[in-house]
This record gives sequence, structure tokens and C-alpha cells, in this order.
Amino acid sequence: DRGYETIEEKLQQLGGSVQRAVMGLIIALNKGRIFKECLPLLAACDIAPDEDPDASRKLIFETRTGGHQIIVARSADVPTYVEYGVADIGITGKDTILEYGGAMGFYEMLDLGIGKCRMMTAGPVGVPEPSGVLRVATKFINITKDYYRQQGRQVSLIKLSGAMEIAPLLNLSDTIVDIVDTGNTLVANGLEARATICDISTRLIVNRASMKTKFDEVNALIGQLAIRTQGDQ
Ligand code: PRP
Ligand code: MG
Repeated sequence: DRGYETIEEKLQQLGGSVQRAVMGLIIALNKGRIFKECLPLLAACDIAPDEDPDASRKLIFETRTGGHQIIVARSADVPTYVEYGVADIGITGKDTILEYGGAMGFYEMLDLGIGKCRMMTAGPVGVPEPSGVLRVATKFINITKDYYRQQGRQVSLIKLSGAMEIAPLLNLSDTIVDIVDTGNTLVANGLEARATICDISTRLIVNRASMKTKFDEVNALIGQLAIRTQGDQ
């Protein structure tokens, strides 16, 4: 009498049902606007936190079904969690992914078509850029370096953490590189948009190893999200 060939066969002989264990996904979400916009999308895919994130200071939520986990992360940290594999999936802006740069540990799999805006240069209305070294204030140091290198323009970079619009007003810089959505912030601060560096939207990234080890779960989620977001593209 021969041994059982596979676990499935053994289960069948024992009268059990053949069912592969479904593995939960660990999903890192950019806190703030992306988090708020993505919760309904994930809920439509049956992934919902087991308590109200607005009423909690927790940073890791279990899900009501499916055994997933949702991590509330700072934007710049989403690629880090996915690169290191502590999250299987990350949802964050293309700006964050570009600024993170050179990642080998994850794939960008889906454009969710939300959070659309542009990475632009901007400066004071009517003030021409100086011909010498351009002083540029930004929090997107890598994106800015790459852009001006491509332009063959010599720049002096000033790293800020936000509210870059202040820099030209105080003559700390000639130009800023920042995200422009409605353009209201620029107008309110006497600035004008100049060149577009790239279009930005919310993207889904997947850890390379998770792509293999949790292929079915990852693939199912991407498929469901694609159906729900492709109308917006
Ligand atoms: C973002 C961005 C711009 C503004 C663009 O800033 O850095 O300042 O929104 O939006 P708008 O074109 O519709 O005005 P945010 O308010 O997130 O603050 P921060 O720069 O301090 O992070
Ligand atoms: Mg800002």
C-alpha cells in the first residue's frame, strides 16, 4: 500500500475538503487623505478595519474578515515597510515612490487614479529666474536633483519639510519644487507654477517576495481594485 501523494489527496481520503490556507495581507496606507480615500475602496474589497480609525490612536488595525492588517504609516515610510517586507502591500503617492528612488524590493502594480496632482516648479509671479545658480527649496530632494540634472541646470538645494511656498516669500530660495493640485496655495502666496516635472497619483506597490508567496491574495486584491478604479483613470 502506497503513501499519500499529496496533502490534497490525503485530505480527500480522510473525507476533508481541499482548501489552501488563505493568507492575510499586511497593507501599509499613507495616513491622511490617501488613508481616507482608500478605506472605502478597500471596504468594497471586503477589507475593513475592525474598529473606527478616526476614533482610535492605534497604528495597526486587524480587519473584520480575511485576517488582514492595515498599517497607518507616514507617507515617506510606506515604501520602506514594503521594501523590507514587513508590509506586503503599500498604497501611497507616486511622489513618495519617486522620492524613495531605486527600490529593488517592490513592484508598482496599480494606479488607483485618485490623489491626482502634479509635481511642479514655481516661483514669485513675474519674477524671472536668475541666470546663475538657482536656489531651490523642496522636500523632494531626489526628484528635484534628477529634474535639474536632466535640465543641465546648476542648483543649490534647500531641504524643507513642508510649506515650501514660504521660501521664495522670505527670499530663502528663487524657486520651489512642490505638488500642485488646485493651485490655490500658490495663488494665495503670490507664486506661479512654471514647469511640470511629472504627473502624480496614488499607486499600489507590492513586496517582491509577497508577489510570489501570497500571489493569489495579492492578485485578487489588485483585480478588485482595478475594477473599482479604472473608471477614474
Ligand atoms: C500640499 C502641497 C501644496 C498644496 C497643493 O501641501 O505641498 O502646498 O498642498 O494643493 P493646492 O494646489 O490645491 O493648493 P499640504 O497642505 O499637504 O502641506 P505641506 O506642504 O506642509 O505638507
Ligand atoms: Mg504644501
